[in-house]
Amino acid sequence: MSTVVLKRTNQKMPLLGFGLWKVTKSSCADTVYNAIKAGYRLFDGAGDYGNEKESGEGVRRAIADGLVKREDLFITSKLWNTFHAKEHVHALAKKQLQLWGIDYFDLFLVHFPIALEYVDPNHRYPPEWWGDDGKVHLANTTVQETWTAMEELVDAGLAKNIGISNFQSSLILDLLRYARYEPQVLQIELHPYLNQQPLVDFCKAWGIAVTAYSSFGPQGYVELGMDKSAASLLTLDAVKSIAAATKKTPAQVLLRWATQRGIAVIPKSNSHDRLVENLGSIEFDLSDQQLKSISDLNLDLRLNDPILIDPRISIFA
Ligand SMILES: NC(=O)c1ccc[n+]([C@@H]2O[C@H](COP(=O)([O-])OP(=O)(O)OC[C@H]3O[C@@H](n4cnc5c(N)ncnc54)[C@H](OP(=O)(O)O)[C@@H]3O)[C@@H](O)[C@H]2O)c1
Repeated sequence: MSTVVLKRTNQKMPLLGFGLWKVTKSSCADTVYNAIKAGYRLFDGAGDYGNEKESGEGVRRAIADGLVKREDLFITSKLWNTFHAKEHVHALAKKQLQLWGIDYFDLFLVHFPIALEYVDPNHRYPPEWWGDDGKVHLANTTVQETWTAMEELVDAGLAKNIGISNFQSSLILDLLRYARYEPQVLQIELHPYLNQQPLVDFCKAWGIAVTAYSSFGPQGYVELGMDKSAASLLTLDAVKSIAAATKKTPAQVLLRWATQRGIAVIPKSNSHDRLVENLGSIEFDLSDQQLKSISDLNLDLRLNDPILIDPRISIFA
């Protein structure tokens, strides 16, 4: 499996992993187990996905059956917005580790640079974006406070690597001014309709690895009714013709467009066949011209935008 080496720890992060958002809870343990059996080693979870316990069950079964050892896996999770205050970060990381049934995360990310009012996990978990009254309640926690608490997770051995998600460059630049441990990974929405080239270049200059989420663009949002009616990337002529020329599928071409440039991907699938198909995206190369023609599909079309939740948290404005 191709990897990217993370700054500070020199740990190797697989360039291709499995995304756990919207993985059906009732079949999640089997999906994770079978994904490991098929060859996946990186799993991208989050408190917000509501399936950490089931994901952990799949992992534990795979380890018990001798398919892998814990150290062969790279498990990522994320801190949710309601737990940004310093007194909650450690407790939540502990809770999430307990749900997974493991004692450290390979990577722990701040899910969004948005602090929301605390919701006691005993009251509601995952808490999502809204209070009991259906409204969004902001909290006054700064990113610096949260990041300092994230660094303490490294000191406590709960997270080997730490990073951020959905951050833009000016906020990262500020974070780098006070960071004791620099963020090793930035996870962002990135696909041909939102190629994020300036942010990718910024990360390269700072040695921050980039993970692309929603590699298939609108496809991941169809099931939520949030695809903005954008044309499917999987059926575009520009992508299909490259798939035909390389004897690969459109999905494999979209994934390779990222990984060939050192950008990690974490496609999600509830289908075993598609999950195996996605795994087959690493063993071929696209020409420079093919890479460029896919990058040229950029429309600056963002699908995962908190502005849809509340205009006060329009972090990409
Ligand atoms: N940090 C963040 O804020 C954030 C936000 C969004 C996502 N993420 C992470 O990124 C992961 C991936 O993003 P995503 O779930 O939005 O979308 P995605 O992986 O781009 O797309 C998933 C969609 O594509 C379909 N699909 C998967 N493989 C396919 C194939 N080979 N051919 C055709 N269709 C295929 C899936 O359907 P089936 O399931 O039916 O196959 C699903 O509808 C998430 O699971 C999560 O781990 C992070």
